[in-house]
Amino acid sequence: MKGLILSGGKGSRLYPLTFTNAKQLIPVANTPVLFRVIASIRDAGIDDIGIVVGSTAAKIKQAVGTGDRWGVNITYIQQDQPLGLAHAVKTAADFLGDDRFVMFLGDNVIEGGISPLIAQFANSEWNSQIVLTPIDHPEDYGVAELDDDGRIKRLIEKPKHPPSNLALVGIYMFDHHIMQAVNEITPSWRGELEITDAIQWLVDHDYSVHPYIHRGWWIDTGQPGDMLEANDLVLEELAYKIEGYVDRESEVGRRVTIQRGAEIINSVVRGPSIIGENARIVNSYIGPFTSIDHDVIIEDSEIEHSMVLENSQIRDIPARIQDSLIGRNAVIKRSPIKPKALKMTVGDNSRIGIL
Ligand code: DAU
Repeated sequence: MKGLILSGGKGSRLYPLTFTNAKQLIPVANTPVLFRVIASIRDAGIDDIGIVVGSTAAKIKQAVGTGDRWGVNITYIQQDQPLGLAHAVKTAADFLGDDRFVMFLGDNVIEGGISPLIAQFANSEWNSQIVLTPIDHPEDYGVAELDDDGRIKRLIEKPKHPPSNLALVGIYMFDHHIMQAVNEITPSWRGELEITDAIQWLVDHDYSVHPYIHRGWWIDTGQPGDMLEANDLVLEELAYKIEGYVDRESEVGRRVTIQRGAEIINSVVRGPSIIGENARIVNSYIGPFTSIDHDVIIEDSEIEHSMVLENSQIRDIPARIQDSLIGRNAVIKRSPIKPKALKMTVGDNSRIGIL
């Protein structure tokens, strides 16, 4: 089997973080979502992986490289415009050939591995397997309606009135018949070739599509709130390791990971949390469910349930920072210059909550 990861698209719901970076590269618990996806496909025994890339191709290629790091071979497939998930499959036709494949959306994070799922599909006669999970707001996703025997009756993309609470998770398995489906369907109301419609085409033409119901957690990291939630869930799963330096004055809780070269000086760190490589935490409090990425400096400040991305600095902030997503190379510091006022250089589409 082959693997196909979709990593194109614009990521506009995550602006301003995605003005300068691909959304699939935003780290969750200090590891980009895309890296987790590659590792889980590799763990299922697949080493031939295609990544569909769009306008952020250069960033993705730079971050992922040849795939050596995971022991896989990566082929990049350029999609000129984000015209839909089924369009991405069309674009990957040469790479896929007649092979069976698993397609994984590069911005989805799911609990546990996908190896059993892949093995089940690889050893089956099914033409496709899709993953469904019950959720509270299915109208934001593809939704499946099953019949009394648990077979797929209907699939609809982002329906106003969902016929069930079963959302389509961003993991799909197909054989070569999907190529015929993506060539037959027409664009949806949002102008995209929907994979949901292509799967409906398979069902309508009597191809076997097996629905697998996933019972663990699953997050589509489309929006800042989803990012923090994914971070919480992954932090709870991490194996905790202290590889950095903790001085005698500091207090570090049990479920804390401190990566290589990080320094914790006269500070309190409560888990679950992670402090990235070469980060410096000085006279500060890092509360539960916080990810501090590599080369970040936190000084004389308090932060919890937040993510701070690489190279950013937070210094001498008088109030505790909470529920925040802070991008790369950001500087948040108390300003000694009079008059006493909030002085900000804020990126387009940013959101700031003041006390
Ligand atoms: O996350 C699961 C949902 O993903 C499913 O429930 C929906 O049925 C499915 O249509 C999809 O919905 P989204 O609207 O969330 O898809 P999004 O546009 O966010 O794209 C998902 C990934 O695919 C993302 O990593 C970007 C990439 N992509 C997207 C498009 C439209 C491409 O590579 N090419 C594209 O043309």
